[in-house]
Amino acid sequence: MISPLAAPPALPRHVGVIMDGNGRWAQRRGRSRMTGHRMGAAAVRRVVREAATLGIEQLTLFAFSTENWGRPRMEVSFLMRLIRRFLRGECGELRRNGIRLRAIGRFDELPGEVRSELERTISLTRGGGGMTLCLALNYGGRAELTDACRELVREAAAGGIGADGITEERLAARLYQPEMPALDLIIRTGGEMRLSNFLLWQAAYSELWFTQLPWPDFAEEDFRRAVADFGSRMRRFGGAPPAALEVIRAGEIQSEEEP
Ligand code: IPE
Ligand code: IPE
Ligand code: MG
Repeated sequence: MISPLAAPPALPRHVGVIMDGNGRWAQRRGRSRMTGHRMGAAAVRRVVREAATLGIEQLTLFAFSTENWGRPRMEVSFLMRLIRRFLRGECGELRRNGIRLRAIGRFDELPGEVRSELERTISLTRGGGGMTLCLALNYGGRAELTDACRELVREAAAGGIGADGITEERLAARLYQPEMPALDLIIRTGGEMRLSNFLLWQAAYSELWFTQLPWPDFAEEDFRRAVADFGSRMRRFGGAPPAALEVIRAGEIQSEEEP
């Protein structure tokens, strides 16, 4: 029986999603990869709605990686048009739900129409008081860290900081979204168990949750399942588990033991 005094399971503040498996979902059905991407956009709508309902503070979706330019030209341009259409179509819904759009990535390499739609949606949703939806677009964790280092070196060259002034805090402050809440949970669909260059710095202590489900099949209850699983994880951040601390407090460890 669950005690009425038991603390509710912890809710992740920030969830990142590597939305993978669109192409395989389509190929298995004899459809084109583009159909898979189109169905993937529907899954985005479902998951955004569910995350906001649960009270997640930030949802970051990996929409296009710095490596995805290596795909056939037609697929890349389809994805760019889909992203643009998604932004245009969802802006009203985001505003109605108080969802603030943000984005991380190298925007200067995106097609102008995508960039302008992105800027427009970000500015129109800025006043929202609810969840932050962050799109990782032309995003790569290595690119982000490289860009942050460039900033630091520029400042150093201008005489702002010396080598000893390079700290984790200073580097983190030069990331694309410095005030991003700690990335608590990463969900990856599509069966692969890798990060594929997603939020490398921020993932240092994230909990990981993988599913075989391809992204177009990912539903509200799957998102809830991942969040519930997060609630059962024991996060230690390199520290000792609480039970070990109890033993120390009870005096069971009297003196320093020889290793
Ligand atoms: C994810 O699905 C969408 C993007 C990376 C833009 P994929 O297109 O990678 O689908 P698979 O992995 O080939 O099945
Ligand atoms: C990761 O998926 C990128 C996005 C979801 C946008 P990929 O399909 O590009 O990753 P790999 O190639 O399987 O590592
Ligand atoms: Mg893939």
